[in-house]
Amino acid sequence: MRNVGAMIDLHCHVLAGLDDGPETVDQAVALVRAARSAGAEKLVATPHVNLRYRNRGATIARAAGELKDRQGREPDLTDVEVLRGAEIAFACMPELTDDELASLTLGGGSWLLLEPPAGQVAPGIAAMVEDLHARGHRVVLAHPERCPVFHRDPKLLHSLADAGVLTSITAGSLVGRFGGIVRRFTSELLEAGMVHNVASDFHSLERRPPGTAEALAQAGLGALAQWLTHDVPAAILEDREIPRKPAGASVAIAPTQGKRRFAWRLRS
Ligand SMILES: [Fe+2]
Repeated sequence: MRNVGAMIDLHCHVLAGLDDGPETVDQAVALVRAARSAGAEKLVATPHVNLRYRNRGATIARAAGELKDRQGREPDLTDVEVLRGAEIAFACMPELTDDELASLTLGGGSWLLLEPPAGQVAPGIAAMVEDLHARGHRVVLAHPERCPVFHRDPKLLHSLADAGVLTSITAGSLVGRFGGIVRRFTSELLEAGMVHNVASDFHSLERRPPGTAEALAQAGLGALAQWLTHDVPAAILEDREIPRKPAGASVAIAPTQGKRRFAWRLRS
């Protein structure tokens, strides 16, 4: 039997042949197996929907069906549930109809995983979020800590959070896998109470493998792990109110080298 409160991975690339994740169903099965070993009870498959990978709900459903069929023939994998979602690029959002958006939500609820632009600016992102809210959706931002636009303008991220946007950071950001700047920014987002989820964003066994527990433990956030990797994603998937963060849990990650660069802008 699996642990109650086992991990829900809200952002991962587990479906075969849709993006830069696994190419084959065999590789996808190996990823599900590794995710299970790393403590996952649910995976939300979030293939890219961007200008390079123009996935839509029907293609994602087809790949999810293939994986589910294979899982049914793998006795050790039947207790891992793979739900459907998508990682929708900022640039693609305007071209999606209401029906298309509805087919790309996280687990079929109202939340969408929005990938911010990779560049230095994101003109119109606040208006886009406002429009999505007006259309009945809510927004989780994928790995904002890795986006130069928010390093340059943390107040923009703050204003999005004030508007109800949640953030999902990549586990590797906690331990420096994307460099010192990303790690420092992640640390300051945590201290500012602006991190709501930690996901693996796994793509392959080699490049960015499944699992978040190791990074959370290494960063010293073990007491928050249940909230970040189970309680919040469960509420997102079930369209429930986001639970309050447990009182007293440390939000400070192990000290980093170098000067803090962002705090005054986040807090001002
Ligand atoms: Fe991703």
